[in-house]
Amino acid sequence: MLILGVETSCDETGLALLELDTPDQASTPQAYRPPSARLLAQALHSQVDLHRLYGGVVPELASRDHLLRLMPLLEGVLREADRDLQDIKLIGVTQGPGLAGALLVGCSFAYGLAAAIDCPVTPVHHLEGHLLSPLFGVDSLAFPFLALLVSGGHSQLLQVSGVGEYELLGETIDDAAGEAFDKSAQLLGLGYPGGPEIARLAQTGRAGRFALPRPLLGRPTLDLSFAGLKTAVLTQVKRAGGTAGLSDVDKADIAAEAQQAIVDVLVAKSMAAVKQTGAQRLVVAGGVSANQLLRHQLDAACSKLKVSVHYPPISLCTDNGVMIAWAAGLRAALGDRGSAAGAFAVRPRWPLSERRLSSALA
Ligand code: KG4
Ligand code: ZN
Repeated sequence: MLILGVETSCDETGLALLELDTPDQASTPQAYRPPSARLLAQALHSQVDLHRLYGGVVPELASRDHLLRLMPLLEGVLREADRDLQDIKLIGVTQGPGLAGALLVGCSFAYGLAAAIDCPVTPVHHLEGHLLSPLFGVDSLAFPFLALLVSGGHSQLLQVSGVGEYELLGETIDDAAGEAFDKSAQLLGLGYPGGPEIARLAQTGRAGRFALPRPLLGRPTLDLSFAGLKTAVLTQVKRAGGTAGLSDVDKADIAAEAQQAIVDVLVAKSMAAVKQTGAQRLVVAGGVSANQLLRHQLDAACSKLKVSVHYPPISLCTDNGVMIAWAAGLRAALGDRGSAAGAFAVRPRWPLSERRLSSALA
């Protein structure tokens, strides 16, 4: 079954064509075998250059750019996969959460296309896309697992019992982990997005010279908090008389400490969740899961607790169309084959718990 994935929830236009091998026997969430799938083509246009000037995503510019990119990218993936529009049997599209205008552009495109070629649409929850991306191309990852989902807009710890079976254990009470990277980078006068910039600068810096807080670290809760970290970075910058008063060494040292503080909190809370749930497997996903320090420290902590840890390939950590096609495919393999294109509403805020597979199948 050929699946088109469409992602436009923020500042990346992502499309992918995935050929899903429909399993002979329907899998069930209780006895789960991921279907095999081949990625025939994918296209990703990043709007980073468009938004860099403003230090963050400008929603209206994002919507307009998605509108410009979608058709040429679709033509590109069809050409690369050597397929026709009519070959597409299912369209998975990010329907939320995200920027309302950006989601509207992607959904209008997907639902319009589905109506034209008479194929069903599966509304995909963006975080479900991230969450299931480490299952792509592997056959050894079984449910249940604990998931650490860390992106620019969300930071959550979830118990995942199957596709569509997500229980929230803890989440950020203010800024997301990616946001903490982005805001710290902005305060240091670095580029956008801040995560890769902080990580790059931190390589030459020394953590510990500037002391930054590890919010909620010693508390029993599995919730996270990063707003205090941003304020502490701001205090250090002000103390130096502004960004211009910081030397390159100062900036690198603050970047190293900020990265270390975020990683310390994420690792400690993940391990607390492992102990609390008795999880055997940890899945880490979302843009921040590309961070190498986070990966090294989680690898070490998980090996101590004899827990396996799984990450998506680096190319699937940040937003992309592949994870959206894949999430739609995993649901399809379990019987949720979407619905005929008709009226739709985007869900800028959308609790993941509403994506229960059983409700879709009812
Ligand atoms: O998942 P994603 O592409 O978009 C959202 O759904 O939000 O995540 C983007 C976030 C940004 O905050 C970005 O700074 C962060 O992921 N990020 C990183 C790294 N690469 C991207 N953070 C830390 N280290 C990285 N290497
Ligand atoms: Zn994302």
